Amino acid sequence: MAKNPLHTKLCDQLGIEYPIIAFTHCKDVAVSVTNAGGFAVIGQTQHTPDEIDANIRWMREKIGDKPFGVDLVFPASVPAVGSIEELLAQIPQEQVDFVEKMKETHKIPKWRTYPDCWNLGWINKETPIKQLDVVVDNKVPVLASGLGNPSFVLKRAHEAGMLVWGLVGKPRQAKAEIDAGIDAVIAQGYDAAGHTGNIGTFSIVPQCVEIAKDSGTPVIAGGGVTTGRHLAGAIALGASGVWTGTVWLASRESDVDMLLKEKLIESKATDTRHSACVSGFTMRTLNSTWHKEWAKPDAPKPAPAPYQLLLFAEIKASAFDHGLKDFMTEAAGQGVDFVTSMKPARQIVLDMVEEALDVFDEICGTDEDDE
Ligand SMILES: Cc1cc2nc3c(=O)[nH]c(=O)nc-3n(C[C@H](O)[C@H](O)[C@H](O)COP(=O)(O)O)c2cc1C
Repeated sequence: MAKNPLHTKLCDQLGIEYPIIAFTHCKDVAVSVTNAGGFAVIGQTQHTPDEIDANIRWMREKIGDKPFGVDLVFPASVPAVGSIEELLAQIPQEQVDFVEKMKETHKIPKWRTYPDCWNLGWINKETPIKQLDVVVDNKVPVLASGLGNPSFVLKRAHEAGMLVWGLVGKPRQAKAEIDAGIDAVIAQGYDAAGHTGNIGTFSIVPQCVEIAKDSGTPVIAGGGVTTGRHLAGAIALGASGVWTGTVWLASRESDVDMLLKEKLIESKATDTRHSACVSGFTMRTLNSTWHKEWAKPDAPKPAPAPYQLLLFAEIKASAFDHGLKDFMTEAAGQGVDFVTSMKPARQIVLDMVEEALDVFDEICGTDEDDE
């Protein structure tokens, strides 16, 4: 091949070797991915501003002047303000009673991590704005936003020398953010872990590529990308890189609970659910007893965000405190099918690159043919 198809404009823009972006909550995974030639964005929605400040410093100590990103979310439809206690008091009684009964039926033991189980981040609009101040003050190279339109921060972030990426699930969101001057659009499909729309990765990526054509805004493909074949496919769809989450969860460095790692490795795509029962927004997560209870015909509708997140907090904490595997869940995409072992994150990057290059060789002719 005359040109390395994995060397995209995103690689040039960020000064990275491979266009593999890891979304992860685990800083050790982030460091390994960065040092392997990829790019890491650390999810910080569940941290206080002081913790975020410390985490940014920690990243800089470990990776020097290599670039990295921070992810925050700015949901439009949560209350402007409100403490945990105030918001708990606003949850409709029907859903509260349903959860209390579930705790009794399943004999959920008392959680030990109180009050940590309430570190939920985006329960109101005020919290992410305080988190944002720390990220901008630290001039983190990339701010990514997985929920809500981050265009409001563009001017301030650009003045600080930062790039802003917006995650979208619909073409009209991509158009709005590109028109506002976003630096990259993450086109995320229905396959993905976390909050997603209804459009599959194979449709949303080329739709966004078409919308971004005139401005030259890079499009990063997300949702189901777990192997080199997916990476090659994303580049063929016109993406400048891939945005990945699920693939890192069971990696050797990942701080995810060992029982959950096992559950991820055992899980198939059909073991994920696209449901509002975890956060109040439709979100793809691993199936669990919590999901099964909310899917019963006599169950109430999940409460809207952020109330559903609050309803789940204590049972979720108990599941991790006491190793209740059936109640354990996490955001996980359909690509979980390809997560079959606990590989080091560095190995995941290098395997993905090697496989993608093999795929391009397979399609375009081998090196020997070129000679
Ligand atoms: C455990 C986990 C937690 C996530 N939490 C967030 C989050 O806080 N903010 C966000 O923007 N995206 C979040 N996501 C979604 C990822 O950013 C990404 O869009 C998704 O994982 C891509 O699809 P994939 O999992 O199929 O690779 C999360 C994903 C996972 C796996």
